[in-house]
Amino acid sequence: GHVVTLRMRVNGVTRSLDIEPWVSLLDALRERLDLTGTKKGCDQGACGACTVLADGERINSCLALAVQYEDRDITTIEGVSHPLQQAFIEHDGFQCGYCTSGQICSAIGMLAEHGAGMPSAVTDAERGATGLSEAEIRERMSGNLCRCGAYNGIVEAIKEVAR
Ligand code: FES
Repeated sequence: GHVVTLRMRVNGVTRSLDIEPWVSLLDALRERLDLTGTKKGCDQGACGACTVLADGERINSCLALAVQYEDRDITTIEGVSHPLQQAFIEHDGFQCGYCTSGQICSAIGMLAEHGAGMPSAVTDAERGATGLSEAEIRERMSGNLCRCGAYNGIVEAIKEVAR
């Protein structure tokens, strides 16, 4: 079939792969590059299990075509080294762990978005030390589902790292 050569930087390493133009970024990472830490839940943008970072921005890799990411910088959980990982352990931010790599990549992207500054109606008194209220964290992480319901631990882990 029709194949194109795609070059991307993945976890800091330039990779080149011959790929059909309709292959999702998620399948390219998992099946072509053996980076199986990124999970496939719904494969239609509803669960967040497939979240990776593209130039630091969180995306659902199941909705992205790999060829859209020519010459971009992709970070998967295999390339993440961040205090959130230890915080998830300490705060029981997971049970089965299936959603965890997506939760962590999403949280890293979310914190970066916050650093860029976003308007909010929440008063300073309602905010924790993070500058993000718990409600804001929950809202901004609402694209990442956890079927085990470990949300309290997830939010606690994010709050700890963000302060
Ligand atoms: Fe991509 Fe569910 S697998 S959002």
